[in-house]
Amino acid sequence: MANVILVGAQWGDEGKGKIIDVLTEQADIVVRTQGGNNAGHTVFVGPTKYVLHLIPSGILRPGTVCVIGNGVVLDPAGLVAEIDGLARLGVEVTPASLVISETAHVVFPWHRELDGQREVRKGNQKIGTTKRGIGPTYGDKAARVGLRVTDFVNASRFPARFAERLAENNEILRALGAQPIDHDSVLAEYTRCADRLRPFVTNTVVMLHEATRRGANVLFEGAQGTFLDIDHGTYPYVTSSNTTSGGACTGSGVPPNRMDRVVGVMKAYTTRVGEGPLPTEDAEISDLLHGMGREFGATTGRMRRCGWFDAVATRHAAMVNGIDELAVTNVDGLDSVRSIRVCSSYRFEGQTLRHVPSDAEVLARCEPVFEDFPGWETPTDGIRRWEDLPVNCRHYLLSIAQMTGARLSIVSVGPARDQTMFL
Ligand code: GDP
Ligand code: IMO
Ligand code: MG
Repeated sequence: MANVILVGAQWGDEGKGKIIDVLTEQADIVVRTQGGNNAGHTVFVGPTKYVLHLIPSGILRPGTVCVIGNGVVLDPAGLVAEIDGLARLGVEVTPASLVISETAHVVFPWHRELDGQREVRKGNQKIGTTKRGIGPTYGDKAARVGLRVTDFVNASRFPARFAERLAENNEILRALGAQPIDHDSVLAEYTRCADRLRPFVTNTVVMLHEATRRGANVLFEGAQGTFLDIDHGTYPYVTSSNTTSGGACTGSGVPPNRMDRVVGVMKAYTTRVGEGPLPTEDAEISDLLHGMGREFGATTGRMRRCGWFDAVATRHAAMVNGIDELAVTNVDGLDSVRSIRVCSSYRFEGQTLRHVPSDAEVLARCEPVFEDFPGWETPTDGIRRWEDLPVNCRHYLLSIAQMTGARLSIVSVGPARDQTMFL
């Protein structure tokens, strides 16, 4: 399989978890390189549903080594809860199957509290974050005041560093009129988590370097999606990490010349959860998908906003990620649609735009220009071979791949492993 970077080509929730799980069959190692437990990756194995937040989706394939890389922000209590939740479902997570980078940054309760407080202060300008403390934790990392896993698991060093960070953040919380964080109970909780997680912690940069030198196949599991990228997304309506393919290198320590290809995952339509522009948003397709019980967030349960496929956006995603191959998921979501719309350009103040404008306010005022495709109006979820898909469906999929500018390689017609076709 070689070393593959998998990214979301839209606004997150493209079905990355399902595709990662399918591709993990050929991988020795799966690495998360950015984001935190804001992610929610859904994988079905038979009838059992797993939702992974911090642990790479590769954990569900026995024998795979999963890595939480240095670019991730790690909520210790969230991770311990996730390990325990997997154990209840029969998946044992051990230091042989999961390793954690020493230099990942740690999320604290003040980060979550500040995340929430900032959202309240923004009022109707709010981002609609997951309130997991992601932005404030990456903020501390950039400001060089964050605590890393190596500080967290160092029992002699941690209490003083913790107390120092708590004191400063409590001053900020008090100034905002929020409740300060309690020292003793939180320190006790973090100490308990550190004792649980210490055996998992290692130098993942060296470990990955040695593994790739031995010829291991590594899959880099992207979280969030291209338009949530801190640099390339619809700023400020973004998350706080590089969700695009470059983040796989900086977030793991594996250099660009060790990467072999980039797979972009996208839905056959578009969704977004949280605030910010979504040019192709449409009530008809939203009602249809929500009516089918689909498109509710895996992390927060919020209703996802839905729209038609936006080829301007995915073309932009192909450009900034260097996408070689496309995996298109949720094709079955369009099974009942008579005429399917695809946005091929935007209109802004009388001009035609073929790229996503950098300014989110401009993007919010763009009108989508649609091309219409005839639907296939027949169920696809039982189909297992590309040749057996309705001709209109194949035409639609090849067209959106061509408009995106990458090769169609995987088609998904349901959440299960076997509802996957390779071209
Ligand atoms: P991720 O964050 O990119 O991993 O995606 P999520 O798991 O948050 O959301 C994708 C949803 O689509 C999950 O509920 C998946 O089980 C589901 N899913 C993935 N591929 C397909 C598909 O081809 N058809 C259907 N019906 N559901 C799918
Ligand atoms: P996966 O990996 C979809 C969105 C939030 C919000 C913005 C910022 O499952 O695709 P944050 O909590 O990161 O500061 O929120 O980003 N967001 C996601 N949307 N899928 C995700 O992850 C997301 N992670 C964050 O809704 O709009
Ligand atoms: Mg998700």
